[in-house]
Amino acid sequence: MRVHRIVILSLAWAVASAASGFVLVGDEPAPHGATNFDVQQRALDAMLQGVDATKPPLGVDPLLWASLLPADNAMTAERVALGRKLYFDPRLSKDGTVSCATCHDVLRGLTDRRPVSEGIGDKLGRRNAPTTLNAALLGSMFWDGRAATLEDQAKLPIINPIEMGFANGDEATAVIAKIPEYGPLFQAAYGRAPNYDDIGRAIAAFERTLVFVNSRFDAHRAGKAGALTPSESNGLSLYEGKARCATCHPLNGTNPVGSDHVFHNIGVSARHQDFEKLATRALAELAKDGSIETIERLALETDVGELGRFVVTRNYADIGGFRTPTVRNVGITGPYMHDGSMQTLWDVVDHYNKGGEANPWLDGGIEPLALTESEINDLVAFLFALTDERFAQDNAAEMKRQAERAQTVRPFRDDGLARRERDGFEDRLGNR
Ligand code: HEC
Ligand code: HEC
Repeated sequence: MRVHRIVILSLAWAVASAASGFVLVGDEPAPHGATNFDVQQRALDAMLQGVDATKPPLGVDPLLWASLLPADNAMTAERVALGRKLYFDPRLSKDGTVSCATCHDVLRGLTDRRPVSEGIGDKLGRRNAPTTLNAALLGSMFWDGRAATLEDQAKLPIINPIEMGFANGDEATAVIAKIPEYGPLFQAAYGRAPNYDDIGRAIAAFERTLVFVNSRFDAHRAGKAGALTPSESNGLSLYEGKARCATCHPLNGTNPVGSDHVFHNIGVSARHQDFEKLATRALAELAKDGSIETIERLALETDVGELGRFVVTRNYADIGGFRTPTVRNVGITGPYMHDGSMQTLWDVVDHYNKGGEANPWLDGGIEPLALTESEINDLVAFLFALTDERFAQDNAAEMKRQAERAQTVRPFRDDGLARRERDGFEDRLGNR
């Protein structure tokens, strides 16, 4: 019976969303389960048709955009083309199997749809891959903000031992420089031979074309009547009101992606941690070597990474703090949270409804919300309405999949108001 209710919800969504999207053809998948890189590129071609990379993206305030572009990496078609080739090129990894698009897959919302990512040699990290969609509009990079810009960020996975695996930037550059087609592309883009900084710059330029902020929510904001269903509209009211999501995930002209760019402990995995002990360990390791490589290793390969922002700042107030992620396109970028511990948006909203896991560093803004089960559904419906129309088909499929899963697995469903309401709902149906 509960399934029935959700099916109605997703049907409404499917009808409301344009049947845009792309068709998968029979190309072999890339290693590590990623979509074939050529298939990904074709899908992206279709979505970026008519986009002029040298102009501010539609839906983004041109002044804001200008303020985000680094002086030494202006957008040119040549830089974007080079960066795009590098982004999809597995030769940019030590064993030739992993590209950026392995973990930031166009057909998976520019993520890998795994709780945590798998790099070369099938090595698993401890963090969930955020989407590269709209990363250009974030104030810092990574869950703990350890890189400041897209340019800095792009250089790190290439030399990370469990991601793309080169020993250092020189080794990676030498491999790229040996590939004949790259020489002229670097010349055209930056007027010099391949070097590591330009690899980072070109990839960043390409990522700046991945601005996807054209959702039905935006149509609603622009005044289009009926852009949101009544349920989604109510979800928006809850988002900005009772559920207080907008305090950390603001969605407005100066904050187009729904992040305050600040670090908060929202009690995601606090139950499993002895934060004090981890902090002592982190300080000991960082005292020996405080380099970005050590920070990366601690973050991706040890449970010290659960300290989040603390590993970067060593400031006790930052324990368990992670940068507020974007909520744009969130329907297609699960699983959720820094550790990929939540499978569906229902799980996420249940988490907030419950008030997060208690711990001494829990953000003051996280408190039980007393949302009813139908309010939870409305809020989730609204989150799915934040997906760019170019991903409408994928979004509808994900919503259906998550809704079905949420009917069978809801870690937090068995407490509080939502449970009582759901039972009441079932009783009403059962009594008919
Ligand atoms: C093995 C999987 C893997 C590969 C390969 C990989 N990434 Fe990531 N990426 C991740 C994970 C996991 C994170 C989050 C790590 C963290 O926050 O500690 C991440 C974070 C990011 C972010 C930050 C987004 C945000 O919201 O802060 C960007 C941008 C990004 N990657 C781009 C790239 C680019 C560009 C490449 C290729 C040069 C690349 N990634 C290669 C898994 C991967
Ligand atoms: C106090 C600030 C704060 C508030 C309030 C808040 N969030 Fe978050 N949100 C965060 C942070 C920080 C994370 C990442 C936490 C982590 O991974 O440990 C996050 C993660 C998420 C994610 C996961 C995104 C992803 O890509 O993994 C979603 C979805 C989300 N929040 C939606 C909401 C909704 C809906 C509300 C309102 C019910 C809300 N948030 C309220 C700060 C906040």
